[in-house]
Amino acid sequence: MAILFLIGYMGSGKSTAGKKLAAKLQVEFVDLDKFIETETGESINAIFANKGENEFRALENNALKKLINENKDRVIACGGGTPCYYGNMELMNNHGISIYLKMSADALASRLINAKDKRPLLANKNEEELRNFITEHLEKREDIYHQAQYIVKGKNLNVDEMVDFLKSIK
Ligand code: S3P
Repeated sequence: MAILFLIGYMGSGKSTAGKKLAAKLQVEFVDLDKFIETETGESINAIFANKGENEFRALENNALKKLINENKDRVIACGGGTPCYYGNMELMNNHGISIYLKMSADALASRLINAKDKRPLLANKNEEELRNFITEHLEKREDIYHQAQYIVKGKNLNVDEMVDFLKSIK
């Protein structure tokens, strides 16, 4: 195996797919946000509120580098912004297999309307603001997301197919 990096917008199902994938591949699963929370002893919300997004991005880059340096076979579910800062996309492509879970802005907005509170970039937005924000934000990020080595449709994702595919490219 290798390190598998799951990337994609908030709400695209990286953690859910990552857990299933790791179980089927019998490797460890790491959620990068949770790892940062454990390392810092602070929630993502608290880091954004107390230290700001720039500091969060630095912590995120450090956490990613730490996991990469451990050089273990595992599945890492990244945060939605991870690939977009500090050259993290290139770092992931150089040290493992990157997979973009792609989903439309509309599908993401429907999934995120009830899951905004733990996401400082989305909290406080009403339904219309959320939809507009996601549409623009996703467009800005997609150039980077498309640098992933593999792109899969996040909606109705078939984890078994993904496992077969990953085994076939080994
Ligand atoms: C972010 C996504 C979040 C988390 C932070 C910032 C982003 O992770 O890292 O709130 O910039 O898209 P999820 O994609 O797991 O929600």
